[in-house]
Amino acid sequence: MKVDVLLGLQWGDEGKGKVVDVLTPRYNIIARFQGGPNAGHSVEFYEIKHVLHTIPSGIFRENQINIIGNGVVIDPIVFKTEIDTLAPLIKDIQQKLLVSKKAHLILPSHRILDAASENAKGITKIGSTLKGIGPTYMDKTGRNGLRVGDILDSDFKNKYRILTEKHRQLIALYNFNYTLADYEKGWFEGIDTIKKFQLIESEHYLNTALESGKAILAEGAQGTLLDIDFGSYPYVTSSNTICAGACTGLGIAPGRIGQVFGIFKAYCTRVGSGPFPTELNNETGEKLRRIGQEFGATTGRPRRCGWLDLPALKYSIMLNGVTKLIMTKADVLSGFITIKVCTGYKTSEGVIDFFPYNLEIVKEPVYDELPSWNEDLTKVKSIADIPPRLMNYIHYLEEKLRIPIVIISVGPNREQTIEL
Ligand code: GDP
Ligand code: IMO
Ligand code: MG
Repeated sequence: MKVDVLLGLQWGDEGKGKVVDVLTPRYNIIARFQGGPNAGHSVEFYEIKHVLHTIPSGIFRENQINIIGNGVVIDPIVFKTEIDTLAPLIKDIQQKLLVSKKAHLILPSHRILDAASENAKGITKIGSTLKGIGPTYMDKTGRNGLRVGDILDSDFKNKYRILTEKHRQLIALYNFNYTLADYEKGWFEGIDTIKKFQLIESEHYLNTALESGKAILAEGAQGTLLDIDFGSYPYVTSSNTICAGACTGLGIAPGRIGQVFGIFKAYCTRVGSGPFPTELNNETGEKLRRIGQEFGATTGRPRRCGWLDLPALKYSIMLNGVTKLIMTKADVLSGFITIKVCTGYKTSEGVIDFFPYNLEIVKEPVYDELPSWNEDLTKVKSIADIPPRLMNYIHYLEEKLRIPIVIISVGPNREQTIEL
């Protein structure tokens, strides 16, 4: 068997949580491979919305194992809050959720460092979610980090103190006011919660599962344009959000990757700072935000909104080897008179149709304009009910991107999903 991967092609919040939940019944195991509680993955059914930060979006289905892979960074405080919320809703959560011993821990002082670093950046700040992601991955690559497996050691508290002391010295350089005591109590309670779960070597677990014919879906967090290597650096996150991240974040060999589901919104959003060529700082942008309810699932911040960007999508498809496309939020575009799609960027050197090293060279996008549809899509259940103009939009995109769109999502609920 192979591992299918589902990941975001834009700047995050493409609807990964919703679609992973929809696809989960086809798999035996759902595994998150990178990122941490900077992610907010919404899953909605029976009119209730659940937002997951660390736990894979397959957790609400009955028969699947969910794994937090080695590439993920875990904040025990957030993890405990998630478990406390989910435990009454999910039978046997302790049997269904396994955690890699190699996943790194976000310490309270990592969060402080994140805040101090952002504060020091002033107007060049990244717009981080301030969950301690950057400093934790820095300690991972700097070979200072604490891993989930360490919590089983008798000298874990000592290791914690040594690393925290190192952080105190760093924070002092920032001249930043902070208190750790409030966080620390909750953090150690969170460690006790993690200890109640099966802590595994997930690379062995997953490869053995593959050998025995189990189907695995790897769930990405953030989006390709936030990738540490290929995103709009430095306005990115600190992990590899692309498909290769599923290999390193789970211990899966490249040849074991099966389908790569690339998910995108019918338009585009971004939270935090950084370039966004198709951003609409006008009424249309506000309309997209209002109708699409574009407010961050983790921080509540308003998301910046704009039109779909094809050079960026093609770049993401290339980096990930996307085999199937999934388009969400088609319902949000109902009632716009026309829809614009960016096909290239005007620069001082002429028009380019690729995602450049430096997005600042983009003067303005070049757009194709397509007619929109007026029909309310939220009740659409089958292909037969898809309005012709939406079908045109789908065919237009398939032709430009040369990859089939296999699912469209027309609302936040599980049921509001159409397979094409
Ligand atoms: P993720 O981070 O990729 O999992 O996405 P988020 O959950 O952060 O953001 C997506 C938001 O859009 C959530 O509020 C979802 O409930 C909602 N959503 C997902 N798909 C659709 C859709 O097709 N239509 C509408 N209107 N909302 C959707
Ligand atoms: P999901 O998985 C959207 C953005 C932040 C900021 C930058 C760096 O829900 O799609 P970080 O906290 O990693 O230091 O922030 O990345 N960001 C996200 N934007 N969705 C996310 O996750 C994000 N995770 C991080 O807003 O601009
Ligand atoms: Mg999100």
